[in-house]
Amino acid sequence: MATDGSKGLAASGNLAYALQQAREVVQLPKLKRTDVVAVLSAAFDLAESQPAGHAVRVAYLSKRIADELELEPAAIARVVAAGLLHDAGIAVRSTPDDTSNPGGHTAVGAWVAAQFGYDRSVQEAIRASHERWDGTGRPRGLAAEAIPVTALIVSAAHWASDEADGFENLLRARSKLRQPIGTLLPIMGPRVAEALESVLHADQTWIDLSSGDLALHLDVEDGEPSASNVADAARVFGRIVDAAAREEGRSDRVAAIAVELGRQAGMPAAMLEALFVAGQLADLGLLGVPRHITDKPAILTVPEMETMQRHTSSGALIVEDLPGLEAVARWIEAHHERIDGRGYPEMLEADEIPLPARILAVADSYCALRSERPYRPAFGATEAMGIIESGAGTQFDPAVASMLPDALRAVAATSEASKAS
Ligand SMILES: [Fe+2]
Ligand SMILES: [Fe+2]
Repeated sequence: MATDGSKGLAASGNLAYALQQAREVVQLPKLKRTDVVAVLSAAFDLAESQPAGHAVRVAYLSKRIADELELEPAAIARVVAAGLLHDAGIAVRSTPDDTSNPGGHTAVGAWVAAQFGYDRSVQEAIRASHERWDGTGRPRGLAAEAIPVTALIVSAAHWASDEADGFENLLRARSKLRQPIGTLLPIMGPRVAEALESVLHADQTWIDLSSGDLALHLDVEDGEPSASNVADAARVFGRIVDAAAREEGRSDRVAAIAVELGRQAGMPAAMLEALFVAGQLADLGLLGVPRHITDKPAILTVPEMETMQRHTSSGALIVEDLPGLEAVARWIEAHHERIDGRGYPEMLEADEIPLPARILAVADSYCALRSERPYRPAFGATEAMGIIESGAGTQFDPAVASMLPDALRAVAATSEASKAS
């Protein structure tokens, strides 16, 4: 524990210091919904154990095929959305209201698309993305024209992306995949197969695929860029993480408490919006932690613990790719740091940890204590509060911990008010 006076806020419990630090202002960038989904879709790749950028490459190839088929801009946007979310269901594993999961991961993927506000045709395309032209696909064994063209396009793009991943480099993939591909017909039918072949023959395809920031260059028609798109998409990703962890509402609670703590600390409105996004995305990296570890009803082994702890950095690495969210990524990375320097991943101490991260730590830990774990029941409100208080000065910033009761009251009052209205 920090005992000398040099540890700033942590040691002094000085709220004035917190207020001064709270003046750091991070503003949410203005982005399109699809751009946010594209960048954060890297979290689905983690869950699918696919090479990074898989979902984006499938979306990109889907778009190129759709261009080739001369679809309308709105239809192209739906194709891209379906490509990005085709395997989102693998990350979620089951929807909150449907734990039996009868339709498999494609049905859950459709649920994810609905959460983002994508229309029925996107949802249907995801459901049908494992159907085959010859009728031997899943889950319904649809054939030929009965399969939505969006689904055929995504499946064609998926095939090409997987094939390309199988070669040691893109140059090699390019020369191999330019040969006529007879095996495509029974999977995707003549029209889409032909479109895919011309996409794979174009040099531009391979140039684009080798570029590092494909996610931000999908360039689809999807409304005006805005900060609320960022907040809305973050909320959906929070819901996806909750569904994967089977802890409904968790990310909303963490974000709401964090925002209240920020308000108590005197942070300006723009900063509170950024804190909201950080609260929603704090555990994004958990999508890459295998379920046998997240759900283990016993103490984790050292390697399992290390895998679990990687969620802070893996989530931050993804969020960092959103232009303007670099600071938010830093807070996410530091949300399990402790002010006594015994946290992870960097063992930062006291005010080396950004104030928003110290806030996230308190909000996140409180919510964790209040919910059930495979190895213990949930703590009651008073008990959980007591545990946070006893960690003030070691695990938690005492100034932040001391604001928690007021913040919880404010969150409770807001949720009462919204229930009443
Ligand atoms: Fe996939
Ligand atoms: Fe976490």
